[in-house]
Amino acid sequence: MRLIPSACDARLLVGPNTLDDAAVYLLREGLALVQTVDFFTPVVDDPYSFGTIAVANALSDVYAMGGTPLTALNIVAFPSRQLSLEILVEILKGGAAKAEEAGVCIVGGHTIDDPEPKYGLAVTGLVDPQRVVTNSGAKAGCLLVLTKPLGIGIITTAIKRRLASAQLIAEVTRVMAALNRGAAEAMLEVGVDACTDVTGFGLLGHLWELTRASGVGARVYLNKVPVMGEAWGLVREGVVPGGTRANHQFLQEGVIWEDISPEEQLLLCDAQTSGGLLIAVPPEKSGQLLQGLRREEALAVAVIGEITSDDPPHIRVKR
Ligand code: CO
Ligand code: CO
Ligand code: CO
Repeated sequence: MRLIPSACDARLLVGPNTLDDAAVYLLREGLALVQTVDFFTPVVDDPYSFGTIAVANALSDVYAMGGTPLTALNIVAFPSRQLSLEILVEILKGGAAKAEEAGVCIVGGHTIDDPEPKYGLAVTGLVDPQRVVTNSGAKAGCLLVLTKPLGIGIITTAIKRRLASAQLIAEVTRVMAALNRGAAEAMLEVGVDACTDVTGFGLLGHLWELTRASGVGARVYLNKVPVMGEAWGLVREGVVPGGTRANHQFLQEGVIWEDISPEEQLLLCDAQTSGGLLIAVPPEKSGQLLQGLRREEALAVAVIGEITSDDPPHIRVKR
């Protein structure tokens, strides 16, 4: 976030100035700390599921940097006089189960009383400083790979408006609660040029940050982008979160739309919660990466476009 004063310690390898997912701090040669924090209000009604999603989301920024999360602290806001404490217990149980799946130890936390429930983690992990994957290394010719389908923001908005079927709720919960750990392992095995996870700024918003940080352009092919099918009908009915519209507005200057309808544009800008990894991989390594992602059972294994040398840098979206 740009409001943070810039840090000046030479051991800070990745700090707040680069729009990256997490901070990286050198401990000693060959070993660096990764730190990040994320928390938010419920995106699904079931408290246990909300806990699993919040933890998968908070860990994702460590995976996106090529790190291994080790410990975490719960961050909780809860209206203890209005809601039953059993709900809070369920949220924390879901969070604990997801952390255990990830091999992460929740070592404590802090709770405040607040009218609106919120949950997330402050996460600490380790990374080899030589293998940190930032958003600034993408080069012209790299292929862009996405590891989860889009439509999360639109579908969770449908949940809030009571428009989502039980089946759709289960599907989007499964997508959000899936860890990006396996995808990150596949990425590290191969060695890629850049990565970010796709969250609140949507696919094109995070791609825009990646292209800006790397000094390159990009091309995206709409028909290659994986989308949860139900999202198409919902976006046509105007079920679109405010964050998605704000992303779309923000991106008008940097994106060239070639024959892409307004609804299709909104879907590509849809604000995701706990979305997948967006990876820039040199073409000669892409086959190995796709193979690794399939082995790790990534929810999507899709080449959605490529990095270009367009000057000035922009994103071109084709069908
Ligand atoms: Co991120
Ligand atoms: Co984050
Ligand atoms: Co405390």
